[in-house]
Amino acid sequence: MTRAVLTLVLIGVSVCIVAGSQVWPVPYRRFDHRPKPDPYCQAQFTFCPTGYVNGSIPLMKDEDIIEVFRLQAPVWEFKYGDLLGHFKIMHDAIGFKSSLTGKNYTAEWYELFQLGNCTFPHLRLDVEEPFWCNQGAACFFEGIDDEHWRSFGTLVPVATISGSMFNQLAKWIKEDNNTGIYYETWTVKESMAPNSTLWFDSYDCSKFVLRTYQKLSELGATFKKRVQTNYTRLFLYSGEPVYLGNASSIFGQHGNKSLATEIHKFYFPYRPHQSFKELILSIMDIYGKSVLLKTFYLFYNFEYWYLPLKPPYITITYEEIPLPSR
Ligand SMILES: *[C@@H]1O[C@H](CO)[C@@H](O)[C@H](O)[C@H]1NC(C)=O
Ligand SMILES: *[C@@H]1O[C@H](CO)[C@@H](O)[C@H](O)[C@H]1NC(C)=O
Ligand SMILES: *[C@@H]1O[C@H](CO)[C@@H](O)[C@H](O)[C@H]1NC(C)=O
Ligand SMILES: *[C@@H]1O[C@H](CO)[C@@H](O)[C@H](O)[C@H]1NC(C)=O
Ligand SMILES: *[C@@H]1O[C@H](CO)[C@@H](O)[C@H](O)[C@H]1NC(C)=O
Ligand SMILES: *[C@@H]1O[C@H](CO)[C@@H](O)[C@H](O)[C@H]1NC(C)=O
Ligand SMILES: *[C@@H]1O[C@H](CO)[C@@H](O)[C@H](O)[C@H]1NC(C)=O
Ligand SMILES: *[C@@H]1O[C@H](CO)[C@@H](O)[C@H](O)[C@H]1NC(C)=O
Repeated sequence: MTRAVLTLVLIGVSVCIVAGSQVWPVPYRRFDHRPKPDPYCQAQFTFCPTGYVNGSIPLMKDEDIIEVFRLQAPVWEFKYGDLLGHFKIMHDAIGFKSSLTGKNYTAEWYELFQLGNCTFPHLRLDVEEPFWCNQGAACFFEGIDDEHWRSFGTLVPVATISGSMFNQLAKWIKEDNNTGIYYETWTVKESMAPNSTLWFDSYDCSKFVLRTYQKLSELGATFKKRVQTNYTRLFLYSGEPVYLGNASSIFGQHGNKSLATEIHKFYFPYRPHQSFKELILSIMDIYGKSVLLKTFYLFYNFEYWYLPLKPPYITITYEEIPLPSR
């Protein structure tokens, strides 16, 4: 009897591998539109306060010549100084300057409800299911705050494009904004080896910048070769991830009670914080916990995955991803 069951289980497993052979990295899920955020999610800072009210991006004259800038600045340099300054945690954005009008613009992609809410869920009293306020979106506004980018970060020209390319880019930014709706902090890899399998890719401000450069390159832009472009990435290292299910299959009526409790317990110490500093302290704390438990429950595409973590567990890197070349 036991043997028969075992065989069935084995057949089930092999069928699963053949039929559902998992693609790595798991593709980031695109949506056909952006849903209204749940009213429970409350921004501490208004999202995109100086953006165009209707989210529109101004049209440029086709013959305009637009300079494109790489913008990068540390997230907390001013506020936390030395304490956490040795991590290079950077925010990335893109600047544009029209030579016909002299006006300039900033495009960036970030969290609607602050980073802590994208990295850790809310846990509500007597509700096992974690609640995520993890939307992220593009913000386009007039102006470049030179002082902010230059004084502790970077403001360098990386390309020159035509007005018509800019207008095509603007169309793409809107589509990208309506279909890529949630923020993902973590990049998950098998090991630190350069050719190791990437299980999950992050989806954050720097990924928006990289996608935009790629799009510009496809539209025919040529990038300056000599600019070095490094980006901050938060890595988790893990053996092959195991799919667990979505909120309803785990936390629903017919869910897996013990798994639900496990996930709830895992996130309990990391409820979203009020400050970025607390978030980083939590990330350091999660490091200790990961070493101990070798377990991480990743929320990706609104689904849960079990990650069997392995050394070095978590790293924060600031490595180069070169500009596109053609
Ligand atoms: C996170 O979400 C909560 C609830 O929506 C909100 O009060 C808070 O301002 C948000 N931001 C942070 C950093 O916690
Ligand atoms: C969006 O608002 C701007 C002014 O803020 C206006 O010039 C533009 O026509 C509007 N676009 C749409 C599609 O409504
Ligand atoms: C992106 O979507 C957000 C959320 O709906 C909106 O506030 C913002 O204006 C949009 N950005 C652009 C550039 O369309
Ligand atoms: C952008 O425009 C503002 C206002 O005119 C100006 O102060 C700033 O120097 C400009 N920055 C760039 C990079 O063009
Ligand atoms: C990764 O690269 C190392 C050498 O750098 C090589 O020994 C190994 O076989 C490679 N692994 C894969 C999966 O390609
Ligand atoms: C959750 O997963 C179940 C089982 O795989 C599936 O039937 C259901 O449609 C999923 N729900 C959502 C909201 O994706
Ligand atoms: C429930 O989840 C646990 C992992 O925490 C797993 O070992 C167990 O097989 C699951 N039970 C069912 C019925 O899927
Ligand atoms: C940028 O990345 C390159 C290659 O990944 C690395 O050698 C360099 O040290 C990085 N620069 C800084 C300032 O960390």
